[in-house]
Amino acid sequence: MQLENDMAKVTIDGIQIEVPDGTTILNAARMIGPDVAPPTMCYYSKLKTSGGYCRTCLVEVTKGSEKDPRPMPKLVASCRTTVMDGMEVSNNTSAKVKDARAGVVEFLLLNHPLDCPVCDQAGECHLQDLGYEHGNYKTRTDFERRTFDKIDIGDKVQLHMTRCILCYRCVKTAEQITDGRVHGVINRGDHAEISTYVAQAIDNDFSGNVIDVCPVGALTDKTFRFKSRVWFTKPVDAHRSCDTCSGKVVLWYQGEEVLRVTGRKDEWGEVEEFICNTCRFDKKKTSDWTIEGPRKINRHSVIAANHYTNLVKPKEFKLNEIKQITE
Ligand code: SF4
Ligand code: FES
Repeated sequence: MQLENDMAKVTIDGIQIEVPDGTTILNAARMIGPDVAPPTMCYYSKLKTSGGYCRTCLVEVTKGSEKDPRPMPKLVASCRTTVMDGMEVSNNTSAKVKDARAGVVEFLLLNHPLDCPVCDQAGECHLQDLGYEHGNYKTRTDFERRTFDKIDIGDKVQLHMTRCILCYRCVKTAEQITDGRVHGVINRGDHAEISTYVAQAIDNDFSGNVIDVCPVGALTDKTFRFKSRVWFTKPVDAHRSCDTCSGKVVLWYQGEEVLRVTGRKDEWGEVEEFICNTCRFDKKKTSDWTIEGPRKINRHSVIAANHYTNLVKPKEFKLNEIKQITE
């Protein structure tokens, strides 16, 4: 049958699944479930050509395919590697992957500041989760982190480049869902930064979505900044009739007040539908919305019950231990 020819059997962490040819290892793992799916910092299923920048999704291919069973010599980015029939992949079961992922976390944190106590993204930051779940708890560097001045992207979005991990998601968002790309990554290596040439406002109905796609606190909503920690807010699903977008959002309440409006995120922390700036920034009254009910919180948020229950807590470390490592 034609259909069968177009399918490939792949085994990930010992669990076999049949997926259409051309599926990436990451998406095959996502089809199995969140316990098997590798973490991602740059891939975003709603954005074309995303992925391939951060290396958090590395996996070990222990058998290439039924036709050529040789293992792949190096770990591969699962968001950019497609499955082959008979392929066997190790993710959580691979010591090499665990080690490499801890290395990736270390690299991402080389320049990312540990300012979580004052960062608006705290509690829903993918890098925070990645650090807790896959990182080491000690640092081996004592270099100064690079710093940048804050930049206003229009009057509602602030870019705090110091926190950016250069995942390119906001660049792809600006490129693909707004009319024209007016910001991008300039320079390379240690000097790379997101620029709007330079403080030019993104004057577009959908520009606010860069806030939702940013996995860290580099792009934040100026109408919400410093108003509340996310775990003190109550998320509620709501919708309105909107000519520009679907009008399906999450309202984040504190008491009777709507502190912020965001798109609805799925279990991978990706927005289900992009929303327009009018819904996001200008409709902050309950009377603007039809309330659907409490939001089921995705596993990425600290608001999710028992989010960190199975984590092994690091033992308290002492100053002399740090010294030994940095010497
Ligand atoms: S600002 Fe955020 S979304 Fe944009 S590249 Fe940096 S980390 Fe990614
Ligand atoms: S998620 Fe695959 S390289 Fe970033």
